[in-house]
Amino acid sequence: DPPNPPEPLKYNGTKLVHDSAHPFEAPEPGDIRGPCPGLNTLANHGYLPHNGVASPSQIVNAVQEGFNMEHGTAVFLTHAAHLVDGNLVTDLLSIGEKTSKTGPDPPAPAIVGGLNTHAVFEGDVSMTRGDFFFGDNHSFNQTLFDQFVDYSSRYGGGFYNYTVAAELRFQRIQQSIATNPQFSFIAPRYFTAYAESVFPVNFFVDGRSTEKKLDMEAAALFFRDGKYPTDFHRAAQPSGTEGVDMVFMVHPIAPGGNQDDKVNNYVLDPTSADFDTFCLLYTNFVNQTIRGLYPNPTGVLRRNLIKNLGFFYSGIADAGCEELFPYGKL
Ligand code: HEM
Ligand code: MG
Repeated sequence: DPPNPPEPLKYNGTKLVHDSAHPFEAPEPGDIRGPCPGLNTLANHGYLPHNGVASPSQIVNAVQEGFNMEHGTAVFLTHAAHLVDGNLVTDLLSIGEKTSKTGPDPPAPAIVGGLNTHAVFEGDVSMTRGDFFFGDNHSFNQTLFDQFVDYSSRYGGGFYNYTVAAELRFQRIQQSIATNPQFSFIAPRYFTAYAESVFPVNFFVDGRSTEKKLDMEAAALFFRDGKYPTDFHRAAQPSGTEGVDMVFMVHPIAPGGNQDDKVNNYVLDPTSADFDTFCLLYTNFVNQTIRGLYPNPTGVLRRNLIKNLGFFYSGIADAGCEELFPYGKL
């Protein structure tokens, strides 16, 4: 049985997380890393299994312990990813490529492809990873990181902060509109793109600092190497998507994508959720994405879908969306 998600942290202040029990160990051949610099770092420091395959409970524990991610955000993100990218029978998720280490696959159209899988969670306009269309949606991209550094210099005095986040988010969207004929910017990616823009400020800045700005040495360590800076202390309070409203409001863009395989052809998609219709994010994810992957589950698979859908919902219960039970109740 998939266990209930771990509880919130008991001690939820800052503390040394790059400690002697969690040294950096570079991934070895066969170890899986992927598009998320946060999870890569946790795997390299032993907060997650070094091979890059983990259960949702291990991930929730790791992001809370290693970065002080707020409990609801941790549960919601982890179970969203697990539902679309993980193996619901073995309770294992790859933080990168598809692997047999997550166990035997359930029947198609389920993918169980790990976090690298395009469009169900991972999406376009990442800050340091290329769009899927260009062939690699998960590896660190030095050219894109150079742009991250350049924007931090131009808008943040050499640091990455919310102001830089807003400008770089807008720039990445303009770049994909102009160069990626298959550019897609609809929910859930629409939300995760803005959220991930503020994560470096909320999680990669040392918890002993009161300034919400990230220096470029630390940024390179996290994004490129999946490595904590020396002596790194986690955030001083449980954190999530703080700052996302500001980042969005500087250059508001509605959900959409390039139509008809043509660049510079961004067409709005009114069926996608946006920041005014948060519950539609949940509803579409359940009724379209998950039911698309699992149209007719039976047995353990069905039971674990029901359980994981419940965990997923529990992460956003505060939002007051109507809970959905597409596979019934237990
Ligand atoms: C990106 C998953 C937690 C920081 C991503 C992506 C995935 C992902 C799939 C790729 C999306 C894309 O850019 O196309 C998860 C899951 C988490 C989690 C399932 C479980 C809670 C965290 C934490 C941090 C973090 C705790 C920070 C400490 C980031 C950042 C990006 C990202 C900054 C954007 C990378 C970029 O744009 O180049 N995450 N993540 N994530 N994640 Fe995570
Ligand atoms: Mg991406």
